[in-house]
Amino acid sequence: MSATFRYRALTLSVLIFGAIPAIADDLKIGLIAPFSGPSSDAGGPEMESGMRAYLKIHGDTVAGRKIVIIRKDAPSPAPDVARRLAQELVTRDKVDVLAGHIFTPTAIAAGQVSTQAKVPMLIMNAATSGILAKMPYTARASFTLAQTTAPLARWANKNGIKRVFTVVADYAPGIDSETAFLQELEKSGNSAAGSIRVPLDTIDFASYIRRIQDTQPGAVFAFLPASDQAKNFIKAFREAGLDKAGVRLLAEGGMVHPAISMTLDDDAIGTVSSHHYSDDHQTAVNAAFVAAFKTFSPGGRAPSYIAVGAYDAMEMLFQAVKMQEGKLDPDRTMQIWREMAWESPRGPVRFDPASRDIVQNVYIRKLERKNGALVNVEFETFANVDDAGRQ
Ligand code: PHB
Repeated sequence: MSATFRYRALTLSVLIFGAIPAIADDLKIGLIAPFSGPSSDAGGPEMESGMRAYLKIHGDTVAGRKIVIIRKDAPSPAPDVARRLAQELVTRDKVDVLAGHIFTPTAIAAGQVSTQAKVPMLIMNAATSGILAKMPYTARASFTLAQTTAPLARWANKNGIKRVFTVVADYAPGIDSETAFLQELEKSGNSAAGSIRVPLDTIDFASYIRRIQDTQPGAVFAFLPASDQAKNFIKAFREAGLDKAGVRLLAEGGMVHPAISMTLDDDAIGTVSSHHYSDDHQTAVNAAFVAAFKTFSPGGRAPSYIAVGAYDAMEMLFQAVKMQEGKLDPDRTMQIWREMAWESPRGPVRFDPASRDIVQNVYIRKLERKNGALVNVEFETFANVDDAGRQ
């Protein structure tokens, strides 16, 4: 609209209605995520592209309010940085909603600011169970490690896989995944061949692989979320000939998302994993999301679970703003989020009103080459899994 036309329209409405119509403020989202450093490749930009894919499909304005994303770079899991950034976003930028968080520690720190200031917050990744209990104005659009891991152990039990060795990153989400996997395994009398927790900065797995080989397990379950860790572990596993010796690799899905799988070679074909999202999910809603996302991502890379968490957080925001005709009252917003259910690109989702965590399908997938790319092809579904991994 030209400036002259806008002025005329305004004058006309003053003449007709006798008052200057309120011009709706922008709707500001404060996005805290890694935009620099080693986690940035599949971190902040992945989240932002997921949000932009939503805006491309649904429009960038809701109830008259234009969406504005204010980016804040939190390169590492450091909680003090995230707390300061959240405070800045609330007091200086006056954001309507806080969002983002690849890492659990930054989500917890920003959650304290959200609670004090009563500013709603949407977690797009950070996946440790139970962290929302102390954050009444936060809902999680992503997943929890217990939720996506327990079904993989159920699948191992069903397929007669005995004695699984677990390898996880030594921090809260890693320990959650180890606990969920082993609890489920033990339910059917199956047992662990051994368990190791590795420091988050480990990139050389040779000594760990030898320890695994010594126990002669039926399978190895791994959760190593950092890109280099995932890639190096999968390579070391194959190079040591574990797969040829009949040991299955069962990966937490984050280890084989597109930014990582595109760096793997055909040796990795057949890797079984469990997760709530694959870009290969066969629905029209997902096809539209994948196509929109690829217009923003580097080299047209397919979206990961982080991108779908960001996309669905936007769906939650749009619903809440629409239902409140442009407002975002914190208590009403939380009520709306607790009761939401919709079809996500990942499949049908709804909220558990008590935990404010998402209830969703968890898929067992196999890495296959399709149209030139390595993709996670879903072949079994555990439906409506809650944050504790229960169905
Ligand atoms: C977390 O810190 O909660 C986290 C990070 C990376 C993942 C999953 C969870 O892939």
